[in-house]
Amino acid sequence: MADGDYDFDVLVIGAGPGGYVAAIRAAQLGLKTACAESRETLGGTCLNVGCIPSKALLHASELFEEAAHGTMAKWGIKADNVTLDLGAMHGTRLEAVKGLTQGIEFLFKKNKVEWLRGLATFESKDTVRVGDRTVRAKNIVIATGSSVTPLPGVDVDQQRIVDSTGALELPEVPEHLVVIGGGVIGLELGSVWRRLGSRVTVVEYLDQILPGMDAEVRKESNKIFKKQGFELKLGTKVTGAQANGSGVTLTVEPAAGGAAETIEASHVLVSIGRRPNTDGLGLDKAGLQVNNRAQIETDHSFRTAVPGIWAIGDVIPGPMLAHKAEDEGIAVAENIAGQTGIVNHAVIPSVVYTMPEIAGVGLTEEDARKAGEVKVGKFPMMANSRAKTNREPDGFVKVIADAKTDRVLGVWIISSLAGTMIAQAAQAMEFGATSEDIAYTCHAHPTHSEALKEAAMAVTGKPIHI
Ligand code: FAD
Ligand code: NAI
Repeated sequence: MADGDYDFDVLVIGAGPGGYVAAIRAAQLGLKTACAESRETLGGTCLNVGCIPSKALLHASELFEEAAHGTMAKWGIKADNVTLDLGAMHGTRLEAVKGLTQGIEFLFKKNKVEWLRGLATFESKDTVRVGDRTVRAKNIVIATGSSVTPLPGVDVDQQRIVDSTGALELPEVPEHLVVIGGGVIGLELGSVWRRLGSRVTVVEYLDQILPGMDAEVRKESNKIFKKQGFELKLGTKVTGAQANGSGVTLTVEPAAGGAAETIEASHVLVSIGRRPNTDGLGLDKAGLQVNNRAQIETDHSFRTAVPGIWAIGDVIPGPMLAHKAEDEGIAVAENIAGQTGIVNHAVIPSVVYTMPEIAGVGLTEEDARKAGEVKVGKFPMMANSRAKTNREPDGFVKVIADAKTDRVLGVWIISSLAGTMIAQAAQAMEFGATSEDIAYTCHAHPTHSEALKEAAMAVTGKPIHI
């Protein structure tokens, strides 16, 4: 039974990692909960067209590259005439998505979360229309996520000019893929198609790829991607794209101004960022406004300016990451239930799932130096016995600590296993660890994680293996 005249104690709008987690936690806490979702399947961007299908193709293309381009052969594993059945690869990707999205449906049933199918729009601050049903809820959580940012002059047709969703579904390996935007999506999906045989050119507006990451990490990543065969056109803007039957002609010019040139591509991927889904929600009827980036602002408890309305995930400020949305989902449900739900936004790891992986948590060295005196320890993966044995020498681990207190302020990793290794760094920072705490923690040998220990030892100048 919901409280008072309400149909639900909690109505969550959107069933992505933010929304579905919020709904399940609210139900676990005894609140009568519904979740509105307009897609045919639950799981949002992440499970349907984001994290999961992209990682499926990253994994599969990595296996293909290892078999086709000699990595396995170096170990004496000979696979002659390796061929690609792209249809089968897509089939396995779709199976992974189906399994996980149906898993959320099962979890909704198990936890008694009602799925309201359809597009939700506010009619007032506590009333929402979903399809042909109108419901009243004591608390409403907006978790509508984000969509691809369009680029004026470059119209996505999902055939020749695709966004990330189209790039996951290409029925053939592009001959020449031009990626607009050297961010996370461009490098991950660019890697997929490069490994499967495409020539890949990345056109990036800024003078370096991967904005927001530590400068040294960006520079080293640049070198690694070039070595892998990416063509990187930095400091360049795309001014137009003309698709014809067999390809696309792109017009580009230096970002700082200068002579225009054209690039011929077989396919173009537009990946210049994502924007919050706030249009068409009827926010005005709820008395809510968005900021100048179309985001909904909240306080630390995820309360919006209107009492009873909360917001989480990609639709609010902060990094657009699934795990950030999930943690906010748990916190908002706990706050609605009268508990204390907190997310430490200073410790949100981010990972680029290329090979090697690129990961970071906390401050970049540049930002840490702006805030005060720091000590930095670095250890190359080349000197890590396991990475070296596995023939994965690229990258390094970098630990940034406060010079006076030794408290760890940031950790950056380029390594085949960076996405897994960064969890240890995040946990150490969450516990307020010093670099000495990490350096004196026993790490199993031989593991890539020993590189984090050695980088922590390097903060005070005493690593063993370099
Ligand atoms: P979303 O997942 O976008 O879900 C919002 C849901 O709300 C959608 O299903 C939408 O249909 C629904 N909705 C919107 N409006 C309404 C409405 N009015 N009524 C009903 N339903 C509505 N993040 C990572 O952390 N790791 C990764 O590896 C990663 N890979 C990615 C790869 C790609 C290609 C992309 C595009 C994104 C990736 N992301 C990744 C980002 C991640 O997907 C998002 O940060 C995450 O999905 C945000 O979760 P959310 O719950 O806020 O919103
Ligand atoms: P992004 O913000 O990571 O990168 C966009 C890039 O495009 C930037 O480098 C920017 O400078 C550049 N750019 C912008 N306008 C341009 C223009 N006109 N011409 C050329 N370059 C231009 O955005 P992306 O890659 O689209 O990803 C969107 C979001 O999805 C990210 O915020 C990310 O958090 C999330 N995501 C996360 C993943 C992960 O965690 N592994 C994987 C994929 C996406």
